[in-house]
Amino acid sequence: MTVPSLSPEAPVGVFDSGLGGLSVLRHARARLPADDFLYVADSGNAPYGERSAGWIRERSIELGHFLIGHGVKALLIACNTATAAAAQALRERWPGLPVIGMEPAVKPAAAATRSGVVGVLATTGTLASARFAALLDTVGRDIRVITRPGTGLVEAVERGELDTPATRALVASHITPLLAAGADTIVLGCTHYPFLRTLIEQAAGPQVSVIDTGDAVARQLARKLGEAGLLRAHGIGTERFWSSAPADAGEQVLRCMWRGDAAFEALPR
Ligand code: DGL
Repeated sequence: MTVPSLSPEAPVGVFDSGLGGLSVLRHARARLPADDFLYVADSGNAPYGERSAGWIRERSIELGHFLIGHGVKALLIACNTATAAAAQALRERWPGLPVIGMEPAVKPAAAATRSGVVGVLATTGTLASARFAALLDTVGRDIRVITRPGTGLVEAVERGELDTPATRALVASHITPLLAAGADTIVLGCTHYPFLRTLIEQAAGPQVSVIDTGDAVARQLARKLGEAGLLRAHGIGTERFWSSAPADAGEQVLRCMWRGDAAFEALPR
């Protein structure tokens, strides 16, 4: 499939392994009020974090096909894990299409830390990726980066358990080792984690800064569209949502994050 000529009136395609990318979409909506967004939650296949890079690449290409079939003018990979595994493959496949990915905000965290220790909470897939290794190489030698796979957190968000005692305990179990290592800055390296931000901040305490990449990515999307002459200038943007999950657990999260009438359509197989 080739990309037809792009128009500012076309929607922006966004996808994630599930609901996490909605945390990015919120920032994108705020930065691009006139643009239409198409969002795909691959919740039927979440979490991506433990899957092979090859599997994530193939699946991301399928989701890209679906969104391009709906006429998108850009792809926003609202997922750190899929960006690490698939951004390059998507750019190679559709060279004319702006593809915006994301990575954990290690650089801003390195600039902000006072203790010299930065904690990065992300999926196993992101932490094991060559892209993340390259990112760590850019951080000065005097900064120590402690990584922690946030096992179980994505699943908790997907189940809509955003503030249960079990989720609170799970969050604390991930944050405590980062604090013990001296981290005063914690990077949320997975787009599901901003849903747990309040719990994370409570577990970390007021001395610790928590950094999320959502707004930086939304700014980059706006900049790339602007450079390509693809920003929609007028109107009030709309959103359309698809999910590959059969159950409606995601619907509850979608509605508390978005308007009360927002709903997922079934992603065709
Ligand atoms: N939300 C995704 C990320 O930013 C991945 C979560 C997962 O499915 O493991 O990494």
